[in-house]
Amino acid sequence: MLKEIYQQPEVLRTCLAAYLTGNRDVPINLNLPIELYNDLDQIHLIACGTSRHAGLVAQHWLEQITGIPTRIRSGSEFVSAPLPIATNTLTIGITQSGETADTLKALTINQTRRSELGDRFQARQLGITNQPNSSLAQLVDHILPTWAGTEIGVAATKTFTTQLAVLCCLMLDLAVRRGVIVSAQLQQWITVLQQLPEQIARILEQEGAIKDLAQQLVNSSHCIILGQGVNRAIALEGALKLKETTYIHAEGYAAGEFLHGPIALLDQQIPVIAIAPEGSSQAAVLETVRKVQMSGAKVIGIVSNREATPDLFEDCLVLPAIANELISPFLTVIPLQLLAYHIAVLRGLDVDRPRNLTKAITV
Ligand code: M6R
Repeated sequence: MLKEIYQQPEVLRTCLAAYLTGNRDVPINLNLPIELYNDLDQIHLIACGTSRHAGLVAQHWLEQITGIPTRIRSGSEFVSAPLPIATNTLTIGITQSGETADTLKALTINQTRRSELGDRFQARQLGITNQPNSSLAQLVDHILPTWAGTEIGVAATKTFTTQLAVLCCLMLDLAVRRGVIVSAQLQQWITVLQQLPEQIARILEQEGAIKDLAQQLVNSSHCIILGQGVNRAIALEGALKLKETTYIHAEGYAAGEFLHGPIALLDQQIPVIAIAPEGSSQAAVLETVRKVQMSGAKVIGIVSNREATPDLFEDCLVLPAIANELISPFLTVIPLQLLAYHIAVLRGLDVDRPRNLTKAITV
């Protein structure tokens, strides 16, 4: 797991190089036929676990930037409660292994239901996977590989950040085609994306501080992670990493929503991690942190501008400056992956093979 966490700068570079051309006239090339994603009325995302969290980040991007109504459903829920059929819908299955049974079943159901309907309802299915020769490829018409290289650790890390990279390129391509961003804005996004490998490498250099934090949290039985906006998905992902590698009961919440009931859970024994990079969601997170402090809970911040949060956190991990809040999930997830890894190691657990889990849930 640690090796794969450290590979992220390199695999992200490889993944971005596969889709960003360096040509100013056509900066993104996904090699997809235009019929697949022309005139879309809706986008449906289907995925499980960590892949679903990548989907949640993408849902935020797609709705906020392209304006295309985007729904997401876990493969396991889609099987008994499929998303209502809409016209001109791009359905994207996200699965690093390409073998997750629930995601494959959901895509099959979608294909079958639509095959009986008229042209505008026909399935347009796209797969995002790290295994382009997997069962997923037999089910969908088009695949976008994530180019992360083999991931052995059961806890997904580098496949998550590369899924985000592919989804971001797809979102930008759609935004250009729909005319909702201009060339200069696109170039800004691309510049920020290309800075990510270097920024992630700088976060990895803070491993010592993250290890110290792991030492403080190693005996906790519970942990709460808060995020807002695009980082709500990272709160969920951080909590999943903690659960599956350390067996600590961890939950991720939207910071604002946390005040509507769950805050009652807190006492001095439950540490809270607040994801609060600079940007439009930061104020809401800090507001919740102020209320959380009254419970006596220890609050750890993941911030990018330490000066905006003087004395608010007992401990702080400081990320590089965030040029675009929407891109911050690539960075905010890294300390949470490392934290989960180090707590698991301190607890003497086999971090690569957590109990009761396999790399892909194929039945
Ligand atoms: O291969 P997939 O991306 O379809 O797998 C989905 C989930 O089973 C997977 O992400 C699981 O949640 C991981 N162990 C998370 O680290």
